[in-house]
Amino acid sequence: MTPLHTLRAGVIGTGFIGPVHIEALKRLGVQVTAICGSTQSARSTAERWGIPEVYGDHDYAALYRSPNVDVVHITSPNKVHVEQCLAALKAGKHVVCEKPLGMTSRETRRVVAAVNRAGAAGPVFAVNYMCRFFPAVLQMRAMVQRGDLGQIIHVQGQFFQDWLLKDTDYNWRILASEGGALRAVGDIGTHWIDAASFILGAKVEAVFAHLETFHRTRRRPRGEVKTFTQADPTTLVPYSVDTEDFGSVLLRFGSSAHGHVNGVHANASISQVAAGWKCSLALGIYGTKGSVRWDLQQPNEILVGRRDEPNQILQRGTAGFSEDVAGFTDYPGGHAEGFPDSHKMQYRAVYQHIASGRQTPVLFATAQDGHQEVQLCEALLKSSTAGRWVKL
Ligand SMILES: NC(=O)c1ccc[n+]([C@@H]2O[C@H](COP(=O)([O-])OP(=O)(O)OC[C@H]3O[C@@H](n4cnc5c(N)ncnc54)[C@H](O)[C@@H]3O)[C@@H](O)[C@H]2O)c1
Repeated sequence: MTPLHTLRAGVIGTGFIGPVHIEALKRLGVQVTAICGSTQSARSTAERWGIPEVYGDHDYAALYRSPNVDVVHITSPNKVHVEQCLAALKAGKHVVCEKPLGMTSRETRRVVAAVNRAGAAGPVFAVNYMCRFFPAVLQMRAMVQRGDLGQIIHVQGQFFQDWLLKDTDYNWRILASEGGALRAVGDIGTHWIDAASFILGAKVEAVFAHLETFHRTRRRPRGEVKTFTQADPTTLVPYSVDTEDFGSVLLRFGSSAHGHVNGVHANASISQVAAGWKCSLALGIYGTKGSVRWDLQQPNEILVGRRDEPNQILQRGTAGFSEDVAGFTDYPGGHAEGFPDSHKMQYRAVYQHIASGRQTPVLFATAQDGHQEVQLCEALLKSSTAGRWVKL
């Protein structure tokens, strides 16, 4: 296989998540040759990370013209994802696009069509639902697939954060025009749904949602604020909020190829106003032989529940985590791996797929998966408005 350090990455976006991509790529030995963002932040990011080619003024088209970029990482805000994806595919670049793939399914359908048109000879395309690449999530998937938990009965969980708890907390995601019609569910709930669907090996067929906006009016600074940072309280102006702070979501999954999932019911609570919870994506899968639970805030262990035997805590890197997971973890048990490592493992999977000429399995989310998450969000909003189940 071509070594990963022969592949060269260009990153668009220098906010919270752009540098997460850069750090993970550098840890993999991938060359990061180009960066694009606002002129000042592109320059300072390039200086910090030693990136030779700098494209300011958000000039992603110039980055795409560089012969020194094989793979483009799109880490800009949601509303420019589709145009940047379509242009990257046209330029023949492989793409890792941040979630969500776009603002509406009408526009994300265009990305799926472009990927399909390019076919197997065209660029590899991934959407960054990297929660799939936590070893715990892969382990839970292997347990479901092998039938360790028996027939799956139901799935339950949450994705809770608190960084938008106060009415003075501001980020572009709060505005539907910037982030999309759904916020808490669109921004973090889709990570939960994608992870649940990945573990089960089944797609969502119908949804029911109740969405709530606690702060109908918030106050914001005049300028922009980087994700997870505080606004200057002296410059705040009121605005009305058109996205949800939290929501309850019911999902009905279809059947899996392995036969252990058939019409499974799932429920999840999603909130960005849950005090004390920083990034708790928690998921429980309950079957006829046992259950398994995991929380991203304790990413290295899973709790296996049995009715007639003692429960177990299984730890990554120790007996109990199966061979299927071994290729997705680099450090021994007890040496914690977490959020940055899930990005690293996802990019390794994508770059190995490119380097091997598509010989490795596609575990990462595809354009079609990203498109389906956007369709799901639209169905969830429709359900919440109409107060009824909506089929996909
Ligand atoms: N996978 C994950 O866990 C995860 C986590 C956080 C964010 N995200 C996704 O990453 C994206 C960025 O989120 P963030 O939190 O880093 O936001 P951010 O606001 O912190 O950063 C956005 C960056 O994009 C740049 N930018 C703005 N307009 C641009 C344009 N037209 N072209 C190029 N760059 C532009 C900004 O200058 C800024 O550097 C979002 O789509 C978000 O959903 C994913």
